[in-house]
Amino acid sequence: MKALVLAGGRGTRLRPLTYTMAKQLAPVANRPILFYVIRHILDASIEDIGVILSPETGDQVQAALAEYFPGRPFTLILQEQPLGLAHAVRVARPFLGDDAFVMYLGDNLIGQGIRDLVETFRREQADAVILLKEVSDPRMFGVAEVDGDGRVRRLVEKPQTPPSRLALVGVYVLAPCIHEAVEAIQPSWRGELEITDAIQYLLDRGYRVQSRILQSWWLDTGKKDDLLEANRVVLDEQAQRAIEGHVDADSRIIGRVTVEKDARIIRSEVRGPAVIGAGTLVDESFIGPYTSIGRNCLLRRATLEHCVLLDGVRIEGVVRLEDSLIGRNAVLRRAFPDRSALRLFIGDDAEVVL
Ligand code: DAU
Repeated sequence: MKALVLAGGRGTRLRPLTYTMAKQLAPVANRPILFYVIRHILDASIEDIGVILSPETGDQVQAALAEYFPGRPFTLILQEQPLGLAHAVRVARPFLGDDAFVMYLGDNLIGQGIRDLVETFRREQADAVILLKEVSDPRMFGVAEVDGDGRVRRLVEKPQTPPSRLALVGVYVLAPCIHEAVEAIQPSWRGELEITDAIQYLLDRGYRVQSRILQSWWLDTGKKDDLLEANRVVLDEQAQRAIEGHVDADSRIIGRVTVEKDARIIRSEVRGPAVIGAGTLVDESFIGPYTSIGRNCLLRRATLEHCVLLDGVRIEGVVRLEDSLIGRNAVLRRAFPDRSALRLFIGDDAEVVL
């Protein structure tokens, strides 16, 4: 079995971050979402992994793969335009050959591995197995209608009137008959070749499509609050106490806090779960729970909680920043401690809530 990870496409919902960054690289507990995706695939004993890249962000994705999985080979597949998930399968055909494969959308974060899904595919001798999760508003997803045995009856992409509340999570196991389907289907109303339509094509021809319901959480990290929530859940489950950096005698580290290499905590308090990235300086500050701070940041006289800071952020004199997502190298500095005036220089599509 092979795996195909989709790390191309355009990230419009996470703007402004995704003007300069692939959405699959948005950090959760200081690791890119893509890291968790690949780890699930490796945990399911799948070693032969192809990764779909876009021309815009392919270099960064490639660099992240090399950083987080040093020495591991990946087959990199360039998709010139984001023409849909089924289009990505078409483009990947030379890599996929006639093997069954797991297709995993590179921006999906789920709370458990995919062994069970792969196992279902083998045991049931299915032609496709899809992963589903009940959601309150399924209209922005692919939606499935299934019978009592989990056998799929019908699939529809982003329906106005959903036939059920079961949304397609972005992990699929597919037999090679999917190639016939992706060649046969036409673009949808949004101009994309939909994998949902390709699997419906299999259903129409009597192929066996099974489903599994995801028992753990699923976070579609499309927007700022989704990413903060993903960060909260992953820190809650996975944060560990590990002090590799320097903590001075005037500081207190409470609970599950990771202080990465070359980070320095001076006259400050950090309450876990939290992670402080390599090379970051925290000085006279309070870092509250559910906060992930990237690499080489500077925090001075700052108080923050439930925040995600990307690399190189500088925050000085800001008391109580919460529920915030701050992009790379952004600076937040209080210029007039005794005045309420603000001076802002904010990039396109940024959001400031005061
Ligand atoms: O997140 C789950 C949903 O993902 C499913 O419920 C839908 O059935 C499925 O169509 C998909 O919907 P989205 O509209 O959210 O897909 P998105 O455009 O966000 O792309 C998903 C991932 O695939 C993302 O990491 C980008 C990548 N991608 C996307 C396209 C369109 C590619 O690599 N190439 C592409 O051409």
